[in-house]
Amino acid sequence: MRSLGLVDGKIVDLAENVVPMEDRGHQFGDGIYEVTRVYNKQCFALKMHMDRMYRSLRELRIPAVYTYDELISFHELLIQESGIVDGAVYLQITRGAAPRTHAFPEQIVPRLTMSIRPGGARKTELWENGAQIIVIPDERWLRCDIKSLNLLGNILGKQKAKEAGAFEAVLVRDGQVTEGTSSNVLAVKAGVVWTHPTNNLILKGITRTIVVEQLAPKLDIPVIEKPFSAEFLKDADEVFLLGTSTEVMPIVSIDGKSVKSGKPGEITQKIQQAYQELIDEECHRA
Ligand SMILES: Cc1ncc(COP(=O)(O)O)c(C=O)c1O
Repeated sequence: MRSLGLVDGKIVDLAENVVPMEDRGHQFGDGIYEVTRVYNKQCFALKMHMDRMYRSLRELRIPAVYTYDELISFHELLIQESGIVDGAVYLQITRGAAPRTHAFPEQIVPRLTMSIRPGGARKTELWENGAQIIVIPDERWLRCDIKSLNLLGNILGKQKAKEAGAFEAVLVRDGQVTEGTSSNVLAVKAGVVWTHPTNNLILKGITRTIVVEQLAPKLDIPVIEKPFSAEFLKDADEVFLLGTSTEVMPIVSIDGKSVKSGKPGEITQKIQQAYQELIDEECHRA
């Protein structure tokens, strides 16, 4: 079992130097990415990830030079060649390489790079007992709906969380909670789940889509997609985060103060269980 890379369809060693100096991903962050979980040698929710990837490409006007079937086969190839059972596939497409100039160069060919790494095993202690978050200002650009390589605001936020000993930083713009630096955030009040609507201010997370459109209706849990304040979040009955790596993470403390009882709530736990069942179903786990 070993981590591997793939460049434009060919398997490479991760240590190989394969990207030219003037690739625009490298110079401008001019590109998009996706991360898909591998459970039991199978990609979870891969079609949803690829659909979102094509949307990100369209929004940045980067030509889609790989078909859906090709991308699926590259994911399968990486899993097969690496022998990785549980891990994650990272995919990135940049506008390509050309002499540095801000506007799109003509006749430039997008470049696909991918990698697979093992791990990302669930942090059972946090999954069961909950994690801590901090609340900080959202200083990112206004197209957070695009999964672009430009992640400086997210990186700086996550670093603040790390330095505060917290699992995640949740972002607030104009008095409203948007999302986490690498997750969506949901609050439960009086049996209703609240989350920011999908507009330009947040990423439409695949995990969020699965929970809001599939699991919550199945569990008869009402969801309201409306912005709410940091005070609302801190006063919620339950808070949880959603994300491909984060999965369903109960939040038991915000800025050092307990969320209600300080234990993962009932609705969060129901969603955790339903999410686990879906993974087992889709990835044929025993
Ligand atoms: C800013 C941001 N929001 C939300 C998410 C969750 O999205 P997904 O469930 O597709 O992983 C991510 C994931 O990386 C993210 O970076």
